[in-house]
Amino acid sequence: MFVIGFAVAERNSLRMEGCIFMNIAVIGAGYVGLITAAGLAETGQRVICVDDDLRKIEILNSGAMPFYEPGLGELVQRNRQAKRLEFISHLEDAVAECQVIFICVGTPPLENGEADLSSVEQVARRVSGCARGYHLVIEKSTVPVQTGRRLQKHFAIYASNPQFQCDVASNPEFLREGSGVEDFFHPDRIVVGVESEKAAALLEEIYQPLLERSFACPVHENCGERSRVPFVVTDINSAELIKHASNSFLATKISFINMIADLCEAVGADVRKVAEAVGMDKRIGSSFLRPGVGFGGSCFPKDLQAFVRVGEDAGCDFSLLREVERINRRRIDLLVNKLKSELWVVRGKRIGVWGLAFKPRTDDVRSSSALAVIRRLLAEGALVRAYDPQAMQKAKAEIPEIEYCADAYAAAQGAEAVLALTEWEEFLRLDLMKVRQVMVRPLILDGRNMFSRASMFAHRFEYLDIGSGGSARKHLLDAKKV
Ligand code: UGA
Repeated sequence: MFVIGFAVAERNSLRMEGCIFMNIAVIGAGYVGLITAAGLAETGQRVICVDDDLRKIEILNSGAMPFYEPGLGELVQRNRQAKRLEFISHLEDAVAECQVIFICVGTPPLENGEADLSSVEQVARRVSGCARGYHLVIEKSTVPVQTGRRLQKHFAIYASNPQFQCDVASNPEFLREGSGVEDFFHPDRIVVGVESEKAAALLEEIYQPLLERSFACPVHENCGERSRVPFVVTDINSAELIKHASNSFLATKISFINMIADLCEAVGADVRKVAEAVGMDKRIGSSFLRPGVGFGGSCFPKDLQAFVRVGEDAGCDFSLLREVERINRRRIDLLVNKLKSELWVVRGKRIGVWGLAFKPRTDDVRSSSALAVIRRLLAEGALVRAYDPQAMQKAKAEIPEIEYCADAYAAAQGAEAVLALTEWEEFLRLDLMKVRQVMVRPLILDGRNMFSRASMFAHRFEYLDIGSGGSARKHLLDAKKV
């Protein structure tokens, strides 16, 4: 369908069974870079993944993984063995071999909320210094609108070889941690922001197996999905904006339902039922309507901040998103206050914490609500014992002063309350009788509404979740009477 019409592309690509397989450089071996690199390799491309963190490259080349992400280790191994995926630390070597370059480096927040683009700029500088011939440079890192423009300018100014020609494109990622591999192979849409037909055609070619679902799905055994994935081609600014707008909208949904949860508690309604019925409206949809202790992670908090800056710098009223952030920050206070009102004095009391990661199926604790709650508990003088199936090591590096336990029962041992802060499936399989026996006071604060109320009350826990007034409070009082 796409006829490659330029000499450099022929040199850097290989035609097989009607598809053109290219040499692709992925710069950055973080969550996004590694999933992108391994995913593209799985669809047949030859991928060189570059990271200047030598330790990370060593880990990857030894067959291990630098972080936990379900399914990713197997994908990386399989494609390394098939020689479609390699890891190196020298960017210039990758650029020499690859016509297509994905930039997947971090864009953490600066103190003022803006995204720090220094890693993106550094990559661009090194590419300018060594690239010759035609290259397609694709920004996949989440960046503020108009970064593509700046990259184009950068290449025009700094290109050291007169034969270096380049197209810049934006191709935002929509990968959730914990299900990034699944999201890569089953995207709702693929968005590309381009300014030339050549760039659009190359990107369509790269994603052809995903768009047409013509690859052997490594995630599901009998994957029956066949409908074509929407391929959204737009200008670069719009593509960049689509990413920030998507994350901000999802964060808004979460803060919205958290606000409703507070009202439910205040007036005696049940947010679980409210969210369920509201979400049945197809125009609204049920996802991201789970109330709780707030959103965290490396994306929503940072992207919201950056988007607010972008909006305000452009003279637009982004106060809506400021409220979304404010509501989210308040989630921590509200949970800790709930605990305090139950325990009266928190100082010197043992509190169990289940869950440290910012969400289940990841070991990532960046901007984790669980860690924010623990910090507040420590400030109140509580003795915290915590457990998480994957994130203990990373949490320990952040908060070394609490006790990390071998399992959820040990975290509950001797506790006056347990706070459930990350909805790991493992917690749903706990023997609740055993949990109740080891606790000093059987009080569970469910910060993610993960447990069934019926089951908690059947096991005679004092159970408080998020957003239930009325009948749930009554059950709590009944449990206290027993
Ligand atoms: C998010 C987006 O969902 C991805 O599409 C995007 O690609 C990614 O950011 C990114 O920008 O790289 P992620 O941060 O991995 O993905 O995780 P989410 O599943 O979106 O959850 C974010 C936070 O919201 C978590 O703390 C989660 O517990 C919380 N959340 C989520 C709720 O509190 N309620 C919900 O209903 C859903």
